[in-house]
Amino acid sequence: MNHKVAFSFADGKTLFFHVQGNEILLDAALRHGINIPLDCREGVCATCMGRCESGDYSLDYVDEEALSAKDLQQRKVLTCQTRVKSDASFYFDFDSTLCSNAGPVHQHGVVTAVQQVSPTTAILHVDAGADGQHLDFLPGQYARLQVPGTEATRSFSFANRPNTANHLQFLIRLLPDGVMSNYIRERCLVGDEIRFEAPLGAFYMRHIEKPLILVAGGTGLSAFLGMLDEIAERGCGQSVHLYYGVRQVADLCEASRIAGYSECIPDFTYTPVISDEGQDWDGKRGYVVEHFDAAKLREEPFDMYICGPPPMVESVKTWLQEQGLDHAHLYFEKFTESNT
Ligand code: FES
Repeated sequence: MNHKVAFSFADGKTLFFHVQGNEILLDAALRHGINIPLDCREGVCATCMGRCESGDYSLDYVDEEALSAKDLQQRKVLTCQTRVKSDASFYFDFDSTLCSNAGPVHQHGVVTAVQQVSPTTAILHVDAGADGQHLDFLPGQYARLQVPGTEATRSFSFANRPNTANHLQFLIRLLPDGVMSNYIRERCLVGDEIRFEAPLGAFYMRHIEKPLILVAGGTGLSAFLGMLDEIAERGCGQSVHLYYGVRQVADLCEASRIAGYSECIPDFTYTPVISDEGQDWDGKRGYVVEHFDAAKLREEPFDMYICGPPPMVESVKTWLQEQGLDHAHLYFEKFTESNT
């Protein structure tokens, strides 16, 4: 049985390839032109070391000088001794340029719809498989889109999971005057060609073995829609809590889609939070950190993913430190919305 594998690197690049049957991971990578540094090929030197971020695997032989018991517990692997048992992703602590000239793919797609999902937000739907192309990415990664009719580019997280139909979604904040916002409001037509570069970014969902806390600020929600679509499809066996902070009620979007996750993710909960005062709103107010349950978070280890503006990411990190919860595994993307 073939499995799809993603290799992510310290420079944020991700390369995808397929592993055949019981093939050694390193051999499959080399076959696809991904030249992972290697020396002994016998599980001794650790030159080919990476870390499994998601998926199942087995190791043939590992010398104890190459990987310690702690390394193994942390899912570090020697690619020359690894056989994957499912689709999987691996991280390497060096740049992709060390082993490949390949990088994100420059591709194009066709606009299939623009869906206004709140007074200030739209989802751009793009068919990226119109001429037989295929795009691989990990839930949480992003694409850099060229705004049609201009040379300007803007980056947006994928708002859905990877799929064989190559149907892409991007959650876009509609600014009063922004190059992408103006395009969407004034000129965008179904059938428009749109060029993009993808996949980009090191913010993506890892192997899930602890309760998950997801913290979205504004259209940082986009990355989590992709992750939650993936969890809804594949399951994860852990509780998942989404915090979603926005300034105004008008900024909240995809409420019914988020509510729908509780039907397919058994222990899914959701807390929207509005920060602007004077809004007509019965729910939580203020900033998301004010609504974290420190006592509950102390009860068991958890992984936290944050995607939002830099001040929000910093406030969450500070709060975790103040609460003595800095042992939590934290993944974050500081998401700066363009003003133009
Ligand atoms: Fe030496 Fe893999 S190449 S351990």
